[in-house]
Amino acid sequence: MAIPAQGRSRADITADLDAFKSKDLAWRSGRVFGYTYDAGAEVEQIGKEAYVSYLTENGLDPTVFPSLLRLETEIIGMVAANVGNPNAVGHFTTGGTESIMLAVKSARDHARYRRGIAEPRIVVADTAHAAFHKAAAYLDVGKDVVATDANFRADPAAMAAAIGPDTAMVVVSAPSYGHGVIDPVEEIAAICLQRGVLCHVDACVGGWMLPFMARVGWPVPRFGLDVPGVTSISVDLHKYAFCPKGASTVLYNDPELRKAQIFACAGWTGYTIVNPTVQSSKSGGPLAAAWATLQAIGDAGYLERARELCDATRALLSGVAEIPGISVLSQPEFCMAALAGEPLRDGGAPVSVFHVADEMRARGWYVQPQLGLGGSPPNLHISLQPGNTAAVPGMLASLREAVPAAAALPSSGLADTIGALFADGVPAGFGAEQVDELMAMAGVAGASLPARMAGINEVLQALPTVAREAMLVAFFGVLYRRREA
Ligand SMILES: Cc1ncc(COP(=O)(O)O)c(C=O)c1O
Repeated sequence: MAIPAQGRSRADITADLDAFKSKDLAWRSGRVFGYTYDAGAEVEQIGKEAYVSYLTENGLDPTVFPSLLRLETEIIGMVAANVGNPNAVGHFTTGGTESIMLAVKSARDHARYRRGIAEPRIVVADTAHAAFHKAAAYLDVGKDVVATDANFRADPAAMAAAIGPDTAMVVVSAPSYGHGVIDPVEEIAAICLQRGVLCHVDACVGGWMLPFMARVGWPVPRFGLDVPGVTSISVDLHKYAFCPKGASTVLYNDPELRKAQIFACAGWTGYTIVNPTVQSSKSGGPLAAAWATLQAIGDAGYLERARELCDATRALLSGVAEIPGISVLSQPEFCMAALAGEPLRDGGAPVSVFHVADEMRARGWYVQPQLGLGGSPPNLHISLQPGNTAAVPGMLASLREAVPAAAALPSSGLADTIGALFADGVPAGFGAEQVDELMAMAGVAGASLPARMAGINEVLQALPTVAREAMLVAFFGVLYRRREA
């Protein structure tokens, strides 16, 4: 594909860009329970204006753009005060994944250069966000994954048992995304303190909002930088602080540990590089937009939204409890829930949540399927946010219809076939050809996805983790080659 021979008009370009969006999820409808966090049109507009006004300023060098330095240190100060240590130090990043990668890098280098550990490792619960697996892979850090308890919380004894001489850091979540539950941060951080290892709290999704929820009466266990033994925390602003995307923070109690995050390079012939985050040149837009959003909503605005989210969560949980064939996995401690299928009659199979997701989609709602793993059965994730709280009664009404409709659908039977193929693990020689065959069985031809996703999800569910990952990678290889007129 070539660029146009002649430059096009602003109106044409805008019309194209608007048209491209027409197949996207209609997040403004309030019928989408994930991906977007919407605090209303006015807040959105303020964020957008700030974003555009700082779009071109470059965060590469804070001595040249002191406005960006000011915005970043003020944001870090606001987050620090909200999570238990106003004196904490940290940085603004592009998202939860970057914050986590930086926390893992700091832990790795701290372990290597302060403790002389050649091959540092991290201990994570199986509910920890995939970003820790990504960080371990990117940064060549070992990982020890520990099964969670029956309520999907990290088990302190099991986490303690996984700490070894090469452990750099233990990770806890507040809350974990999948089930919306908070790990026992105090207990695990105390173990870390005693064993001399770092403890990171992944509060990407909940860290900003939980303190406000606590202030309106929601029970919130301690999870912040004030917990003895906690050494770092990641807190996203582009989730429950409702800032435009590209906004997260990573904070440390000890400025010495933060030093391990910062990369400097004077060993080349160009300008001096000092990068606290992954990017070097970076737009000031996300920073200005985040600062503006925090200013626009303010303490009272976040409290008001916290109240609304707590009320909506209670309504969601009690509504789901009345729907046969579906139940809430564990008791969520944040405005999120994971719903699992239950048998509709004694001795029957649980309702397929993958079919429920399709049935909901057919009724205009988006809920996020999550594959089962370990003790966690396949489930549907629901994130409540101000943009969809008013839609909860309508969503519950559709769920009441979708569950029996899903139960009436036949299973593809693929799970049994594929389960048998992988009964002894991933067969030797499993490669691109086998992945293509599995994709065909799942109904994926080329890059076009079928309208109903249950078949694909059933195939993925039946596969061992490494084969799931191989299939997903193969699919993206095809997807990103797509050319559409
Ligand atoms: C607990 C948790 N950690 C990390 C992340 C990763 O954040 P991002 O998607 O901004 O990279 C998420 C995203 O949902 C999350 O919920």
